Amino acid sequence: MKKSIRSLKFKNNKLILIDQRVLPQRYEEFICNNYKDVEFAIADMVVRGAPVIGVAAAYGVVLAALEFFDLPKRDFFREMHLACDIINKSRPTAVNLMWAVTRMRNLLVESKTQKEILSDLRKEADKIAKEDVQTNKKMGQFGNSLIPPKATILTHCNTGALATVEYGTALGVIRTAVSSGKDIFVYADETRPRLQGSRLTAWELVQEGIPARLIADSVAATLIRDGKIDLILVGADRIAANGDTANKIGTFMLSVMARTYDVPFYIVAPTTTIDFEIETGSEIEIEERSSQEVTHIKGVPVAPNNIDIYNPAFDVTPAENITAIITEKGIINKPFNENILNLK
Ligand code: MRU
Repeated sequence: MKKSIRSLKFKNNKLILIDQRVLPQRYEEFICNNYKDVEFAIADMVVRGAPVIGVAAAYGVVLAALEFFDLPKRDFFREMHLACDIINKSRPTAVNLMWAVTRMRNLLVESKTQKEILSDLRKEADKIAKEDVQTNKKMGQFGNSLIPPKATILTHCNTGALATVEYGTALGVIRTAVSSGKDIFVYADETRPRLQGSRLTAWELVQEGIPARLIADSVAATLIRDGKIDLILVGADRIAANGDTANKIGTFMLSVMARTYDVPFYIVAPTTTIDFEIETGSEIEIEERSSQEVTHIKGVPVAPNNIDIYNPAFDVTPAENITAIITEKGIINKPFNENILNLK
């Protein structure tokens, strides 16, 4: 049996991450010894993908508790809340990060001893990690019910084992469809500027032996127009209460093509990606990343010096372009407003 990819593990009081910055050239681990290492790993995209940055953040809070364990109680709580605030701000768009930090912060109960709190935090982080895998498998089953016996699927960015603890959201649905015996062919967008599609999704597809082709992002429109794509599966970083969905930059463009040519366009995301507090996608903070991501590839300049750069990491796909949202609680159809609210 093939060994599954696990993007992180917590061992000997250290968080061990697959370093996603160097794949596929090298398989390396990045070790987080303290919460500041976790903050760095999330911000620098050693670990990336909405669900797994939530899990990494949870273990970051455990590392903070280990670090501040011996402090007097009042200092311990002050440092713990500061650590939660810092981890919370490591990336702004994926709400799974804030969701996980809140879940951990709720365990900082003043009437408990530091020993009890540390034990509670450790158990909760393990639980969040375990739930992530279970959630992915359920989304895989629900999503598979929408996939015909033979299908060509287009996907964007990386939504696989690397973006979660070990299975995947959109790529998890593809995994389930393949293992259920369906005849699946995948087109993976390279996903500029960080190339999560070519570096990470293509790597996972090759590891799994799933038939696939890697394409430059700009090829997708032609494939969709020419009737070569049966459906599109993508993940999400934050879903507003009306169904507007923030995901990797380029997702919106795909959704417009899908709508124009009547190709089903599905979001696959756990309910922890839904931000019930915001009504529409216009309220989602879109991260802007360094200009270097656009001007350089692997340190090699691909643009002239001093050109001005605009580099948003995500875009918002309006709910009207989305056919349905696949969650672990089932498939959410339109009207999204009503059906998302029922999930609360
Ligand atoms: O910038 P990234 O690589 O963290 O962006 C990731 C995505 O946009 C994914 O599609 C999303 O997090 C869903 S992952 C299961």
